[in-house]
Amino acid sequence: MVFYLLYYGIESFKFKQKDFQELLEQARSRNEKLNITGKLIYCEGTFIQVLEGEEQHVKEVYASILRDHRMVATKLVTEGKVEERHFGAWSMDFKEISLATINDFENCTHPDVADYINTAPAIKLLKLLGK
Ligand SMILES: Cc1cc2nc3c(=O)[nH]c(=O)nc-3n(C[C@H](O)[C@H](O)[C@H](O)COP(=O)(O)O)c2cc1C
Repeated sequence: MVFYLLYYGIESFKFKQKDFQELLEQARSRNEKLNITGKLIYCEGTFIQVLEGEEQHVKEVYASILRDHRMVATKLVTEGKVEERHFGAWSMDFKEISLATINDFENCTHPDVADYINTAPAIKLLKLLGK
């Protein structure tokens, strides 16, 4: 079983390209050492991230993230255990998405999509948004 944790938080200053680069280099190198995988999504100043791996390691990294001054108002959404990793190929996949994309999902009238948005487990939704 693999432990996962999903949270969101708000940037404490306007992130530029070099800030993302620095953050991802740091995150990926530590994640590789701890065998943590996951996905980070950024949209208009908000980060949403799933971390997966050994419970103690994931909680350690999350504790660091909570102390990180680059982000404020961090809030845990959900945590739990799954059979297999969802993001096994990524020490930290990253995607920036626009508000327009999210609005498109929200406004989509196809019943299957609307239903999915309302009922999807958080990780599946994250994958969908990050496509
Ligand atoms: C949005 C965001 C996502 C982050 N993701 C990770 C991550 O996946 N893995 C990681 O080791 N650090 C991540 N960090 C960096 C940590 O907050 C922290 O700076 C780093 O792990 C070093 O920890 P330390 O200051 O306790 O030594 C992230 C920071 C931010 C702001």
